[in-house]
Amino acid sequence: MSNLKYNRILLKLSGEALAGNLSKGIDSNTVKSIIESVCDLHDLGAEIAIVVGGGNFWRGVQNNDIERVTSDHIGMLATCMNALYVSDMIEKHGKKTRVLGAIEMKEIMEPFIRRRAVRHLEKGRIVIFAAGTGNPYFSTDSGAALRAAEIDADIIFKATNVDGVFDKDPNKFSDAKLYRNVTHEEILQKNLKVMDATAAALCRDNDIDIAVFNLSDPHNIVKLAQGKDVNATLVNS
Ligand code: GTP
Repeated sequence: MSNLKYNRILLKLSGEALAGNLSKGIDSNTVKSIIESVCDLHDLGAEIAIVVGGGNFWRGVQNNDIERVTSDHIGMLATCMNALYVSDMIEKHGKKTRVLGAIEMKEIMEPFIRRRAVRHLEKGRIVIFAAGTGNPYFSTDSGAALRAAEIDADIIFKATNVDGVFDKDPNKFSDAKLYRNVTHEEILQKNLKVMDATAAALCRDNDIDIAVFNLSDPHNIVKLAQGKDVNATLVNS
């Protein structure tokens, strides 16, 4: 019998989170420590799905040289590289994984099929969702919201490099105030920088809670799932 507060968790990892202190690419030690916590959480009985971003390889929206759609396609491919890397690292820790992509690349990963994703989770596999929503103009946060709704996740754990949601940028303002609890509506109305508006609206409309937390201590993943008091922000209705 699990003593977790949340049993089916969707963890959103940005590409930057995988880069650690490097400005680009993947920092193996950073990923290792994240994966260790993911595996600890799995040992406690959680069903875990991960949505990975791709910003460590490609930041589509900042590139004006090519069409936005092409840029977004490259971004989706970047998430696939991260998904494969994370999957292999988790398997090295002795856990079974399945990578499911929103665009078809059947030689490399399974296509996303909702019922299969749920079956993999029920069988104890850690599922990694690649390629966002499979559409340009949508962020991987929207991908996380969409997949969380589809697999009926109890919550999204959104990893960031700060403690949670602040009233202003904590990296610029020393008096920035951390919200411990905000509503989806407040996120949208106050334009709080948690996720883009499309993703936030999807979470609001489908009543998906979000815990925004600091990944610099990866143990936060386990503590949050256990319902322990973590300096983080809970977003709900
Ligand atoms: P169960 O049906 O629950 O046993 O799931 P399973 O994933 O073990 O079954 P399956 O026989 O479908 O998959 C066996 C292996 O093939 C797994 O590692 C899958 O990730 C992989 N696999 C399944 N479909 C695809 C695909 O379309 N492309 C790629 N590249 N791998 C696939």
